[in-house]
Amino acid sequence: MNEPGADDVSAIKRQAKAVPQTPVTAIRNDPWQIDAARLTEIREETPGVATFRFAWVDNHVTSRVAAQPGQFNMLYLPGVGEVAISVSDSQIRSDQVVHTIREVGNVTGAMFRLAVGDTIGVRGPFGSAWPLDDCVGHDVVLVCGGIGLAPMRTLVHELIRRRNQFGELNLLIGARTPSDLLYQDEYSQWNSQGIHVHTTVDRASTMWTGNIGVVILLLERLKLRDPAQTLLMTCGPEVMMMYTIQTAISRGLTRDHIWLSLERHMNCAVGTCGHCQFGPHFLCKDGPVLRFDQVHSLMEVTDL
Ligand SMILES: Cc1cc2nc3c(=O)[nH]c(=O)nc-3n(C[C@H](O)[C@H](O)[C@H](O)COP(=O)(O)OP(=O)(O)OC[C@H]3O[C@@H](n4cnc5c(N)ncnc54)[C@H](O)[C@@H]3O)c2cc1C
Ligand code: FES
Repeated sequence: MNEPGADDVSAIKRQAKAVPQTPVTAIRNDPWQIDAARLTEIREETPGVATFRFAWVDNHVTSRVAAQPGQFNMLYLPGVGEVAISVSDSQIRSDQVVHTIREVGNVTGAMFRLAVGDTIGVRGPFGSAWPLDDCVGHDVVLVCGGIGLAPMRTLVHELIRRRNQFGELNLLIGARTPSDLLYQDEYSQWNSQGIHVHTTVDRASTMWTGNIGVVILLLERLKLRDPAQTLLMTCGPEVMMMYTIQTAISRGLTRDHIWLSLERHMNCAVGTCGHCQFGPHFLCKDGPVLRFDQVHSLMEVTDL
């Protein structure tokens, strides 16, 4: 092999100098990289649901994490397991990662036993995002049920940040009871920033003066200026999303203007294990956000 000449050596030195001191890109591209994050705050939102705010332990992580609205992270509790949880706050402050979690089982139960100062592992972000750019110039309706508002909150933040690019914005929220309405102290601010927030509950309390009934009723009553040019995004229990979509189509929205967020058990989150398979799609890579016309025939298959 030829020895490198003086010119080659100086070229190699120049290249070496060009390599950043902190190899942030290399870290970002490894989906198996687990970064430690320290719990800085737990905020109870509704019964059984809390928002967990974490700060990255390694400062280098800050420059690599930029989740898009709708994406999720894999949260790892050593000795317990790993779960998929959507990013629930805009990571404009990229030194933080924020997740709203409902306690349902093994790993989420262990999350609720964490104390401020404890650390967990985080992989991600993964998956597809809400189609913000497709919304430009259109009226947009968001429909969510229960914890389904968590993956939509980052979308709400982005719609507000780019408010003048969109037409009318409506957010329809359904919950079981008034105390199950997530992020209720933020609704008046969202209203004042240009998103009309509509709420409904299945069961009212004595103090409740708002709507009663399923969220689909709100969609049935909503004034739509131009249904064929309106975009709809939905997140929540699958049956709720299906009725929402049926209603939207009956009101004149088209299948290619409707997106939904589908959840299945996730394991690898990178499209290799097959746990999240949904017909030809791997929901960890092709989803969780999918356009309805791409999955409508699969939605009719029982237990898929
Ligand atoms: C892309 C994605 C985003 C998600 N975002 C959030 C979020 O922002 N906040 C949140 O609280 N949860 C979210 N989830 C659901 C969360 O991943 C599950 O609740 C969690 O995996 C349950 O783990 P566990 O060990 O606590 O429960 P387990 O002990 O594994 O199960 C407890 C019960 O929950 C059911 N279950 C477990 N995982 C799921 C699932 N993915 N879908 C439906 N039922 C399930 C089980 O069948 C069982 O009945 C998301 C899931 C996906 C796939
Ligand atoms: S979680 Fe492994 S393929 Fe999607």
